[in-house]
Amino acid sequence: MATQSPPKLINLVRGWPAPSLLASELLSSAAQQVLSDPAVFVPALQYGPDPGYQPLREALADWLGRHYNVKPDPERICISGGASQNLACILQSFTDPAYTRAIWMVAPCYHLACDIFKDSGFEGRLRAFPEDEEGVDLEVLEESIRKLEEEQGKPQNKTYKDAGKYRKHYRHVIYVVPTCANPSGKTMSLSRRTGLVKLARKYDALVVCDDVYDCLQWPVGGELKPPSQWPPEMKLPRLCDIDLAMGAAENDPRGFGHAVSNGSFSKMVGPGIRTGWVEGSPAFAYGVAQTGSTKSGGSPSQFCAAMMARLISSGELEDYLEKTVRPALQRRHALMMDAIHRYLTPLGDVKVRESGLLGARTYGGYFVWLTLAGGVSARVVADKALRDANVIVGSGDMFQVHGDEERLSFDGAIRLTFSWESEEDIVEGVRRLGDVIRKVKEDPAQWQQEQLARGERDDGLMNFK
Ligand SMILES: Cc1ncc(COP(=O)(O)O)c(C=O)c1O
Repeated sequence: MATQSPPKLINLVRGWPAPSLLASELLSSAAQQVLSDPAVFVPALQYGPDPGYQPLREALADWLGRHYNVKPDPERICISGGASQNLACILQSFTDPAYTRAIWMVAPCYHLACDIFKDSGFEGRLRAFPEDEEGVDLEVLEESIRKLEEEQGKPQNKTYKDAGKYRKHYRHVIYVVPTCANPSGKTMSLSRRTGLVKLARKYDALVVCDDVYDCLQWPVGGELKPPSQWPPEMKLPRLCDIDLAMGAAENDPRGFGHAVSNGSFSKMVGPGIRTGWVEGSPAFAYGVAQTGSTKSGGSPSQFCAAMMARLISSGELEDYLEKTVRPALQRRHALMMDAIHRYLTPLGDVKVRESGLLGARTYGGYFVWLTLAGGVSARVVADKALRDANVIVGSGDMFQVHGDEERLSFDGAIRLTFSWESEEDIVEGVRRLGDVIRKVKEDPAQWQQEQLARGERDDGLMNFK
């Protein structure tokens, strides 16, 4: 008897841009321009200054200043090797494992950040805190911080590191993705943003914001417009801008601030470009530039920074985002939502977030967050989807805060990505997922038992972005 070959693998967990969204032509022409002029390629191919390639700092200050309606200031910006690399630099420069109490992560969290925190000595000190439809739950967060402070008493004087003249060590780090979050797709309201900054100032915390999806937003079911015409709900201020507008905090005489923005070109032109920026106060930007690996190797991504400077100052990047990236993501998101409404919501008990921001009709980023009720385990669904339907989806447990899984668990949730697969496969993947959920719902206990009998899942699945 002929065996049926399995259907094509569809990967709905991979948070990468589709190959069609990699800006190869733009980058090729920018590279040629950079490499054909010694006045540009000599500095671009040398070690870069610690805070980064100056023309990119200036181009970014101008662009972001227009986008967020803040005064352009290149001194607030330090060029990075992307959000992940820069998170590591922030921890190296601004935390001390003996002095810094804990890392507070909104849950569900961007799971790959957990290992970056662990590498800096915070294993076992990652704490999950919840969010509601509006964003972070400030009451729970404050109460948890207060309790921890009480339990631990005064900070010890002994630290592992000397912060020196240009840096300081914060007592707490709070990690969030305020806009179009990975994995929840949520955007934090203005009042929660303001509240979070105030809380950070009170407890000497640094809020690290991965603002990597801010420029990738669209109205749900509406006409795409250039950012200059976006409504205010699509251009909420970054936490670092709110912090700056509040003026210097009393406990911060050197003006490092209490919130920083990690920006990245990964989702705009392609992750391989490994270039981003951090924006905070001038003192913070200078301090992070004093990280040892930067002082030795010079600014990360110096050559790519020269290409990105060209693409921003010529307007080509904005044009590309407007004509290619945002329309493609808006279309893909709409197709995924249609498929979810066709194949998943009729199953009952499957809910999906329709808008990123409470009370608005906007969305953005790469991800959709589904919740399954009725005792259906997302882990069981995800394992069965891979085994029986050749579809990879992210079960909620992937996005629990490492070491604090018990506090907030998400076995009733699934993350789906619409950025990676083709439009056709996005729809087909959701259809197959619907078949799997239906089967699991018919007898959840049976599938749970079957999974238990099979043992642990291959951890490779947990490593997808
Ligand atoms: C919230 C968040 N932060 C950081 C990253 C990685 O950014 P980068 O490629 O700039 O290191 C991702 C990628 O998926 C992400 O979703």
